[in-house]
Amino acid sequence: MTKYKIAVIPGDGIGPEVTNGTRMVLEAIAADSNHDFVFTEWLAGGIAIDATGEPLPAATIAGCRKSDAVLLGAVGGPQWDTLPGDKRPERALLGLRGELGLYANIRPAVLHQALASACPLHPQIAARGIDIVFVRELTGGIYFGERGRRDTADGQQAYDTEAYNVTEVERIARTGFEMAMKRNRKLTSVDKANVLESSRLWRETVIKVAADYPEVQLDHLYVDNASMQLIRRPDDFDVVVTTNMFGDILSDEAAMITGSIGMLPSASLGAPGTPGMYEPIHGSAPDIAGLDRANPLAAILSAAMMLRYSFDLKSEADRIEMAVAKVLADGYRTGDIYQQSINEDKQQLIGTKRMSELVAEAL
Ligand code: IPM
Ligand code: MG
Repeated sequence: MTKYKIAVIPGDGIGPEVTNGTRMVLEAIAADSNHDFVFTEWLAGGIAIDATGEPLPAATIAGCRKSDAVLLGAVGGPQWDTLPGDKRPERALLGLRGELGLYANIRPAVLHQALASACPLHPQIAARGIDIVFVRELTGGIYFGERGRRDTADGQQAYDTEAYNVTEVERIARTGFEMAMKRNRKLTSVDKANVLESSRLWRETVIKVAADYPEVQLDHLYVDNASMQLIRRPDDFDVVVTTNMFGDILSDEAAMITGSIGMLPSASLGAPGTPGMYEPIHGSAPDIAGLDRANPLAAILSAAMMLRYSFDLKSEADRIEMAVAKVLADGYRTGDIYQQSINEDKQQLIGTKRMSELVAEAL
Protein backbone atom coordinates (compact mmCIF):
# COMPACT_ATOMS: atom_id res chain seq x y z
CA MET A 1 0.00 0.00 0.00
CA THR A 2 1.41 3.39 -0.99
CA LYS A 3 0.74 6.27 1.34
CA TYR A 4 0.34 9.79 0.01
CA LYS A 5 0.28 12.72 2.43
CA ILE A 6 -2.07 15.46 1.28
CA ALA A 7 -2.14 18.83 3.05
CA VAL A 8 -5.64 20.27 2.70
CA ILE A 9 -6.18 24.01 2.95
CA PRO A 10 -9.95 24.53 2.78
CA GLY A 11 -9.64 28.32 3.17
CA ASP A 12 -12.63 30.65 2.91
CA GLY A 13 -16.08 30.91 1.34
CA ILE A 14 -16.92 27.85 -0.72
CA GLY A 15 -13.39 26.47 -0.18
CA PRO A 16 -14.36 24.00 2.60
CA GLU A 17 -17.34 22.65 0.61
CA VAL A 18 -15.34 21.97 -2.54
CA THR A 19 -12.38 20.44 -0.70
CA ASN A 20 -14.74 18.20 1.28
CA GLY A 21 -16.31 17.01 -1.96
CA THR A 22 -12.86 16.37 -3.38
CA ARG A 23 -11.77 14.35 -0.35
CA MET A 24 -14.87 12.22 -0.85
CA VAL A 25 -13.74 11.41 -4.39
CA LEU A 26 -10.14 10.70 -3.34
CA GLU A 27 -11.39 8.44 -0.56
CA ALA A 28 -13.46 6.52 -3.08
CA ILE A 29 -10.31 6.04 -5.18
CA ALA A 30 -8.43 4.83 -2.10
CA ALA A 31 -11.24 2.42 -1.16
CA ASP A 32 -10.84 0.36 -4.31
CA SER A 33 -7.12 0.71 -4.95
CA ASN A 34 -3.85 0.07 -3.23
CA HIS A 35 -3.37 3.70 -2.26
CA ASP A 36 -3.87 5.44 1.00
CA PHE A 37 -4.43 9.18 1.10
CA VAL A 38 -3.62 10.72 4.47
CA PHE A 39 -5.14 14.16 4.89
CA THR A 40 -4.05 16.90 7.28
CA GLU A 41 -5.89 20.24 7.41
CA TRP A 42 -4.19 23.62 7.61
CA LEU A 43 -5.27 27.22 8.00
CA ALA A 44 -4.69 29.88 5.37
CA GLY A 45 -6.51 32.98 4.15
CA GLY A 46 -9.20 34.88 6.00
CA ILE A 47 -9.94 32.02 8.38
CA ALA A 48 -6.25 32.05 9.38
CA ILE A 49 -6.32 35.82 9.87
CA ASP A 50 -9.27 35.43 12.25
CA ALA A 51 -7.64 32.55 14.14
CA THR A 52 -4.01 33.69 14.26
CA GLY A 53 -3.74 37.25 12.91
CA GLU A 54 -1.71 36.00 9.94
CA PRO A 55 -2.98 34.98 6.48
CA LEU A 56 -0.29 32.29 6.19
CA PRO A 57 0.80 30.87 9.56
CA ALA A 58 4.27 29.28 9.71
CA ALA A 59 2.68 25.98 10.77
CA THR A 60 0.79 25.85 7.47
CA ILE A 61 3.95 26.31 5.42
CA ALA A 62 5.71 23.62 7.48
CA GLY A 63 2.72 21.28 7.13
CA CYS A 64 2.70 21.72 3.35
CA ARG A 65 6.44 21.12 3.10
CA LYS A 66 6.04 17.82 4.95
CA SER A 67 3.31 16.65 2.57
CA ASP A 68 3.47 15.06 -0.86
CA ALA A 69 0.95 17.53 -2.29
CA VAL A 70 -1.32 20.39 -1.26
CA LEU A 71 -5.04 20.72 -2.05
CA LEU A 72 -6.34 24.26 -1.68
CA GLY A 73 -9.98 25.42 -1.80
CA ALA A 74 -10.08 29.21 -2.07
CA VAL A 75 -9.12 32.24 0.00
CA GLY A 76 -10.62 35.70 0.48
CA GLY A 77 -13.84 37.45 1.34
CA PRO A 78 -15.27 40.94 1.75
CA GLN A 79 -14.67 41.04 5.50
CA TRP A 80 -10.90 41.06 4.93
CA ASP A 81 -10.84 43.40 1.91
CA THR A 82 -9.88 46.50 3.85
CA LEU A 83 -6.77 45.00 5.47
CA PRO A 84 -3.36 46.30 4.31
CA GLY A 85 -1.81 44.48 1.33
CA ASP A 86 0.52 42.21 3.30
CA LYS A 87 -2.26 41.09 5.67
CA ARG A 88 -4.86 40.22 3.07
CA PRO A 89 -6.02 36.61 2.53
CA GLU A 90 -4.52 36.64 -1.00
CA ARG A 91 -1.10 36.96 0.65
CA ALA A 92 -1.53 33.35 1.74
CA LEU A 93 -1.73 32.21 -1.86
CA LEU A 94 1.23 34.29 -2.99
CA GLY A 95 3.17 33.23 0.12
CA LEU A 96 2.54 29.54 -0.54
CA ARG A 97 3.58 29.91 -4.18
CA GLY A 98 6.77 31.71 -3.15
CA GLU A 99 7.62 29.53 -0.13
CA LEU A 100 7.04 26.26 -1.95
CA GLY A 101 8.83 27.53 -5.08
CA LEU A 102 5.79 26.80 -7.28
CA TYR A 103 7.00 28.57 -10.39
CA ALA A 104 4.88 26.73 -12.96
CA ASN A 105 1.12 27.10 -12.98
CA ILE A 106 -0.67 24.68 -15.28
CA ARG A 107 -4.22 25.70 -16.18
CA PRO A 108 -6.04 23.54 -18.69
CA ALA A 109 -9.03 25.22 -20.32
CA VAL A 110 -11.26 22.59 -21.86
CA LEU A 111 -14.73 23.01 -23.28
CA HIS A 112 -16.51 19.87 -22.08
CA GLN A 113 -18.70 18.44 -24.77
CA ALA A 114 -21.72 18.28 -22.49
CA LEU A 115 -21.30 22.00 -21.77
CA ALA A 116 -20.67 23.19 -25.32
CA SER A 117 -23.82 25.28 -25.23
CA ALA A 118 -22.45 27.19 -22.23
CA CYS A 119 -19.68 28.60 -24.41
CA PRO A 120 -20.49 32.28 -25.02
CA LEU A 121 -18.67 32.27 -28.37
CA HIS A 122 -20.35 31.89 -31.72
CA PRO A 123 -21.67 28.28 -32.03
CA GLN A 124 -19.49 27.76 -35.11
CA ILE A 125 -16.42 28.57 -33.05
CA ALA A 126 -17.56 26.48 -30.08
CA ALA A 127 -18.20 23.53 -32.39
CA ARG A 128 -14.49 23.43 -33.21
CA GLY A 129 -13.75 22.75 -29.55
CA ILE A 130 -11.43 24.35 -27.00
CA ASP A 131 -8.55 22.46 -25.42
CA ILE A 132 -5.75 24.74 -24.28
CA VAL A 133 -3.17 24.41 -21.53
CA PHE A 134 -1.92 27.64 -20.02
CA VAL A 135 1.52 27.50 -18.51
CA ARG A 136 1.75 30.59 -16.33
CA GLU A 137 4.94 31.70 -14.60
CA LEU A 138 3.95 31.94 -10.94
CA THR A 139 6.74 33.17 -8.70
CA GLY A 140 8.17 36.12 -10.60
CA GLY A 141 7.23 39.20 -12.57
CA ILE A 142 5.18 42.07 -11.22
CA TYR A 143 3.59 39.87 -8.52
CA PHE A 144 6.92 39.48 -6.77
CA GLY A 145 8.83 42.54 -8.03
CA GLU A 146 9.75 45.56 -5.99
CA ARG A 147 6.75 47.63 -5.01
CA GLY A 148 6.04 50.52 -2.75
CA ARG A 149 4.99 54.11 -2.38
CA ARG A 150 7.07 57.23 -2.47
CA ASP A 151 6.53 60.94 -2.24
CA THR A 152 7.04 62.98 -5.36
CA ALA A 153 6.61 66.65 -6.21
CA ASP A 154 3.20 65.69 -7.63
CA GLY A 155 2.08 63.84 -4.52
CA GLN A 156 2.31 60.25 -3.50
CA GLN A 157 3.28 57.69 -6.10
CA ALA A 158 2.85 53.92 -6.03
CA TYR A 159 4.88 51.51 -8.13
CA ASP A 160 5.10 47.79 -8.94
CA THR A 161 7.95 46.33 -10.95
CA GLU A 162 7.92 43.71 -13.68
CA ALA A 163 11.29 41.96 -13.65
CA TYR A 164 12.37 38.60 -15.06
CA ASN A 165 15.78 37.01 -15.18
CA VAL A 166 16.93 34.46 -17.72
CA THR A 167 16.78 31.54 -15.28
CA GLU A 168 13.16 32.23 -14.45
CA VAL A 169 12.16 32.47 -18.10
CA GLU A 170 14.19 29.43 -19.10
CA ARG A 171 12.60 27.07 -16.60
CA ILE A 172 9.02 28.11 -17.36
CA ALA A 173 9.75 27.97 -21.10
CA ARG A 174 10.97 24.40 -20.60
CA THR A 175 7.76 23.54 -18.78
CA GLY A 176 5.87 24.94 -21.76
CA PHE A 177 7.90 23.02 -24.33
CA GLU A 178 7.67 19.77 -22.33
CA MET A 179 3.91 20.18 -22.13
CA ALA A 180 3.76 20.87 -25.87
CA MET A 181 5.80 17.70 -26.54
CA LYS A 182 3.19 15.68 -24.63
CA ARG A 183 0.38 17.26 -26.66
CA ASN A 184 0.25 18.63 -30.18
CA ARG A 185 3.74 20.14 -30.30
CA LYS A 186 2.50 23.66 -30.63
CA LEU A 187 3.54 26.42 -28.22
CA THR A 188 2.46 30.05 -28.16
CA SER A 189 4.53 32.41 -26.04
CA VAL A 190 2.65 35.53 -24.98
CA ASP A 191 4.48 38.75 -24.12
CA LYS A 192 4.45 42.48 -24.72
CA ALA A 193 7.84 42.69 -26.41
CA ASN A 194 6.80 45.72 -28.46
CA VAL A 195 6.83 47.77 -25.25
CA LEU A 196 8.39 46.01 -22.26
CA GLU A 197 12.10 45.28 -21.87
CA SER A 198 11.28 42.33 -19.60
CA SER A 199 9.20 40.92 -22.45
CA ARG A 200 12.08 41.34 -24.90
CA LEU A 201 14.29 39.24 -22.62
CA TRP A 202 11.41 36.80 -22.26
CA ARG A 203 11.09 36.37 -26.01
CA GLU A 204 14.85 36.06 -26.60
CA THR A 205 15.08 33.41 -23.91
CA VAL A 206 12.10 31.41 -25.16
CA ILE A 207 13.66 31.39 -28.64
CA LYS A 208 16.93 30.07 -27.19
CA VAL A 209 15.17 27.27 -25.30
CA ALA A 210 13.28 26.39 -28.50
CA ALA A 211 16.54 25.11 -29.99
CA ASP A 212 16.22 22.09 -27.67
CA TYR A 213 12.72 21.34 -28.97
CA PRO A 214 12.94 21.35 -32.76
CA GLU A 215 9.70 19.37 -33.09
CA VAL A 216 7.67 22.06 -31.39
CA GLN A 217 6.12 24.76 -33.53
CA LEU A 218 6.68 28.00 -31.61
CA ASP A 219 4.95 31.28 -32.18
CA HIS A 220 4.83 34.57 -30.30
CA LEU A 221 1.86 36.83 -29.68
CA TYR A 222 1.57 40.18 -27.97
CA VAL A 223 -0.80 39.88 -25.06
CA ASP A 224 -3.41 42.26 -26.47
CA ASN A 225 -3.53 40.30 -29.71
CA ALA A 226 -3.55 37.00 -27.81
CA SER A 227 -6.63 38.05 -25.87
CA MET A 228 -8.36 38.76 -29.16
CA GLN A 229 -7.25 35.58 -30.93
CA LEU A 230 -8.45 33.48 -28.00
CA ILE A 231 -11.97 34.62 -28.80
CA ARG A 232 -11.59 34.51 -32.57
CA ARG A 233 -9.83 31.15 -33.02
CA PRO A 234 -9.50 29.34 -29.67
CA ASP A 235 -9.08 26.00 -31.44
CA ASP A 236 -5.75 27.21 -32.87
CA PHE A 237 -4.16 27.26 -29.41
CA ASP A 238 -2.58 24.24 -27.80
CA VAL A 239 -0.07 25.25 -25.11
CA VAL A 240 0.36 28.89 -24.10
CA VAL A 241 3.31 29.99 -21.98
CA THR A 242 3.29 33.43 -20.42
CA THR A 243 4.21 35.69 -17.51
CA ASN A 244 2.57 35.77 -14.12
CA MET A 245 0.25 38.69 -14.78
CA PHE A 246 -0.59 37.96 -18.42
CA GLY A 247 -1.32 34.37 -17.38
CA ASP A 248 -3.59 35.56 -14.61
CA ILE A 249 -5.65 37.61 -17.04
CA LEU A 250 -5.69 35.26 -20.03
CA SER A 251 -6.60 32.24 -17.92
CA ASP A 252 -9.72 34.00 -16.67
CA GLU A 253 -10.62 34.81 -20.26
CA ALA A 254 -10.08 31.17 -21.18
CA ALA A 255 -12.24 30.10 -18.24
CA MET A 256 -15.07 32.26 -19.51
CA ILE A 257 -15.00 30.88 -23.04
CA THR A 258 -15.19 27.33 -21.70
CA GLY A 259 -18.50 28.11 -20.04
CA SER A 260 -17.82 28.17 -16.35
CA ILE A 261 -15.00 29.15 -14.10
CA GLY A 262 -16.44 26.51 -11.76
CA MET A 263 -15.00 23.81 -14.02
CA LEU A 264 -11.33 24.74 -14.31
CA PRO A 265 -8.60 23.09 -12.23
CA SER A 266 -4.97 24.06 -11.80
CA ALA A 267 -1.65 22.68 -10.72
CA SER A 268 1.21 24.74 -9.35
CA LEU A 269 4.51 22.93 -9.58
CA GLY A 270 8.04 23.56 -8.40
CA ALA A 271 11.25 21.60 -8.60
CA PRO A 272 10.86 17.82 -9.04
CA GLY A 273 10.41 16.08 -5.70
CA THR A 274 8.81 19.07 -3.98
CA PRO A 275 5.09 19.16 -3.17
CA GLY A 276 2.84 20.66 -5.82
CA MET A 277 -0.28 22.64 -5.00
CA TYR A 278 -3.62 21.94 -6.63
CA GLU A 279 -6.53 24.33 -6.61
CA PRO A 280 -9.62 25.27 -8.56
CA ILE A 281 -9.03 28.54 -10.37
CA HIS A 282 -12.28 30.03 -9.07
CA GLY A 283 -12.37 32.22 -5.99
CA SER A 284 -14.13 31.88 -2.65
CA ALA A 285 -17.58 33.00 -3.93
CA PRO A 286 -18.69 34.35 -0.52
CA ASP A 287 -22.23 35.00 -1.84
CA ILE A 288 -22.96 31.28 -2.07
CA ALA A 289 -20.69 30.02 0.71
CA GLY A 290 -22.23 27.38 2.96
CA LEU A 291 -25.31 26.98 0.76
CA ASP A 292 -24.31 23.73 -0.95
CA ARG A 293 -24.47 25.53 -4.29
CA ALA A 294 -20.81 25.62 -5.34
CA ASN A 295 -19.52 23.55 -8.22
CA PRO A 296 -16.96 21.09 -6.78
CA LEU A 297 -15.80 19.88 -10.21
CA ALA A 298 -12.88 22.32 -10.55
CA ALA A 299 -11.52 21.12 -7.19
CA ILE A 300 -12.19 17.48 -8.08
CA LEU A 301 -10.42 17.91 -11.42
CA SER A 302 -7.55 19.57 -9.55
CA ALA A 303 -7.24 16.37 -7.51
CA ALA A 304 -7.02 14.45 -10.78
CA MET A 305 -4.11 16.70 -11.73
CA MET A 306 -2.53 15.93 -8.35
CA LEU A 307 -2.73 12.21 -9.01
CA ARG A 308 -1.24 12.70 -12.45
CA TYR A 309 1.54 15.20 -11.73
CA SER A 310 2.55 14.59 -8.11
CA PHE A 311 1.79 10.89 -7.62
CA ASP A 312 2.16 9.58 -11.17
CA LEU A 313 -1.19 7.77 -10.82
CA LYS A 314 -2.26 8.25 -14.39
CA SER A 315 -5.07 5.72 -14.61
CA GLU A 316 -6.62 6.97 -11.35
CA ALA A 317 -6.46 10.52 -12.73
CA ASP A 318 -8.16 9.32 -15.92
CA ARG A 319 -10.86 7.64 -13.85
CA ILE A 320 -11.71 10.90 -12.10
CA GLU A 321 -11.82 12.83 -15.35
CA MET A 322 -14.00 10.20 -16.99
CA ALA A 323 -16.33 10.14 -13.99
CA VAL A 324 -16.75 13.92 -14.22
CA ALA A 325 -17.50 13.63 -17.95
CA LYS A 326 -20.07 10.91 -17.24
CA VAL A 327 -21.88 12.88 -14.55
CA LEU A 328 -22.06 15.88 -16.89
CA ALA A 329 -23.23 13.71 -19.77
CA ASP A 330 -25.95 12.31 -17.47
CA GLY A 331 -27.23 15.87 -17.16
CA TYR A 332 -26.27 16.69 -13.58
CA ARG A 333 -25.53 20.38 -13.08
CA THR A 334 -24.68 22.74 -10.27
CA GLY A 335 -26.21 26.20 -10.59
CA ASP A 336 -23.28 27.76 -12.43
CA ILE A 337 -23.52 25.31 -15.33
CA TYR A 338 -27.27 24.83 -15.33
CA GLN A 339 -28.75 26.47 -18.38
CA GLN A 340 -32.27 27.68 -18.03
CA SER A 341 -32.82 28.03 -21.75
CA ILE A 342 -31.50 24.71 -22.96
CA ASN A 343 -32.81 21.16 -22.66
CA GLU A 344 -34.33 21.80 -19.27
CA ASP A 345 -35.73 18.31 -19.16
CA LYS A 346 -32.32 16.77 -19.64
CA GLN A 347 -30.61 18.69 -16.84
CA GLN A 348 -30.89 18.10 -13.16
CA LEU A 349 -29.94 20.86 -10.76
CA ILE A 350 -28.00 19.50 -7.78
CA GLY A 351 -25.79 20.76 -4.96
CA THR A 352 -22.12 20.52 -4.10
CA LYS A 353 -22.39 17.42 -1.98
CA ARG A 354 -24.56 15.46 -4.36
CA MET A 355 -22.30 16.35 -7.29
CA SER A 356 -19.28 15.06 -5.36
CA GLU A 357 -21.11 11.84 -4.43
CA LEU A 358 -22.13 11.27 -8.03
CA VAL A 359 -18.53 11.62 -9.23
CA ALA A 360 -17.37 9.23 -6.50
CA GLU A 361 -20.07 6.73 -7.55
CA ALA A 362 -19.20 7.09 -11.23
CA LEU A 363 -15.56 6.14 -10.68
C1 IPM B 1 -5.36 33.43 -9.45
C2 IPM B 1 -5.90 34.53 -8.59
C3 IPM B 1 -4.76 35.05 -7.72
C4 IPM B 1 -3.72 35.63 -8.65
C5 IPM B 1 -5.18 36.09 -6.67
C6 IPM B 1 -6.30 35.60 -5.79
C7 IPM B 1 -4.00 36.53 -5.83
O1 IPM B 1 -6.48 35.51 -9.34
O2 IPM B 1 -4.86 32.42 -8.90
O3 IPM B 1 -5.44 33.56 -10.67
O4 IPM B 1 -3.82 36.79 -9.06
O5 IPM B 1 -2.78 34.90 -8.98
MG1 MG C 1 -6.63 35.04 -11.41
